[in-house]
Amino acid sequence: MSHSHAPRPATARRSRALSGTVRVPGDKSISHRSFMFGGLASGETRITGLLEGEDVMRTGEAMKAMGAHIQKTGTEWVIRGTGNGALLEPQAPLDFGNAGTGSRLTMGLVGTYDMETTFIGDASLSGRPMGRVLNPLREMGVQVLEASPGDRMPIRLHGPKVAAPIEYRVPMASAQVKSAVLLAGLNTPGVTTVIEPVMTRDHTEKMLKGFGANLEVETNRQGVRHIRIEGQGKLTGQTIAIPGDPSSASFPLVAALIVPGSDITIENVLMNPTRTGLLLTLQEMGGKIEILNLRNEGGEEVADLRVRSSELKGVTVPPERAPSMIDEYPVLAVAAAFARGETVMDGLDELRVKESDRLAAVARGLEANGIDCTEGEMSLTVRGHPDGKGLGGGTVKTHLDHRIAMAFLVLGMATDKPVTIDDAAMIVTSFPEFMGLMSGLGAEVA
Ligand code: S3P
Repeated sequence: MSHSHAPRPATARRSRALSGTVRVPGDKSISHRSFMFGGLASGETRITGLLEGEDVMRTGEAMKAMGAHIQKTGTEWVIRGTGNGALLEPQAPLDFGNAGTGSRLTMGLVGTYDMETTFIGDASLSGRPMGRVLNPLREMGVQVLEASPGDRMPIRLHGPKVAAPIEYRVPMASAQVKSAVLLAGLNTPGVTTVIEPVMTRDHTEKMLKGFGANLEVETNRQGVRHIRIEGQGKLTGQTIAIPGDPSSASFPLVAALIVPGSDITIENVLMNPTRTGLLLTLQEMGGKIEILNLRNEGGEEVADLRVRSSELKGVTVPPERAPSMIDEYPVLAVAAAFARGETVMDGLDELRVKESDRLAAVARGLEANGIDCTEGEMSLTVRGHPDGKGLGGGTVKTHLDHRIAMAFLVLGMATDKPVTIDDAAMIVTSFPEFMGLMSGLGAEVA
């Protein structure tokens, strides 16, 4: 998608019972990393189940611009990587579109190279803070030649002749920051250490080990993780089967909980414990979600989820659960709109710096549809209406944010009156099949 597009409104209406069995696209976090690590490793990487969304494709283009060969053969993506330490200087700015993960991880991956790289993105990405990644990179010797005020894009970097290994304590719960420093460590002599006080998704650690990096994790009694990576080692291409994205699965899942009479199954969903906070919360709310065929595939837990419509009750979500469900709060707020009583979500500071200020975007969207909520500095309280009576009828501003778009379309599937979103175009960044998949289950959305 180009950086300015004609907005494409969409509307969801109260739907009859949803039914069927579906698969959601591959996990976005693992898809980005598969292109990056495959593009960097020596030899061939073969990937199935890749999310072919805009965000991931941008990462693929960036890796190609730095020397990786990437092509699709049938249903498989085949990559021939450059070898660790052997990325080439890109001849043009790397355009990451809407993708925070792609851009931040790539800044780490290439920032320590003795070459110039420029990072650009769309209006949403250009408004997001990049200092969280640039600061540790500066400590490693990376020069920030150009950045917009507040360390925002466009950003131009030049790495040192030889980067310095650091020990870095991640100041916020962010897998992107952790990953950027570890990836910078790949091209740095010696041992780079990341200290992670609060555990976040661990795909970088798991996958780098799989590619042969010398990486170890030690967790102390307080749960603080020390992740050490030895730089300049060899990475070797791998075969990767990417499971379904639990963040994408959350949309049909919540839709089935709130649309009366629904009974659906979502197959092959990633169940990595750093990603399952929403499932736990919805089960605590009384959601009928059965975890079937739990199995281990390629080093990750995967399961099929059977979901039936449920009478939900409000809960207080513990703030320490936020990292394991950070992208799911918008759709949790939608589930909460149909729960009996109050749902309290706290510890949401990171929501303010996502593709949009999600805390504000969710609160305004709920209000526009007659749902009573209170937005705090770092919290959101939603007071639900179990039957959806009188709700809906509003138009929601999505602020170039795919998850705001999908969450509010799900809302409209169970409210009395239709819910319209101002722009559905960004859904292609993470879930291009969303409209077709939801319609296939019986949802009225167009
Ligand atoms: C991601 C980390 C999270 C998450 C994002 C994907 C990743 O971001 O919101 O969608 O793949 O590392 P933060 O690191 O900013 O929390």
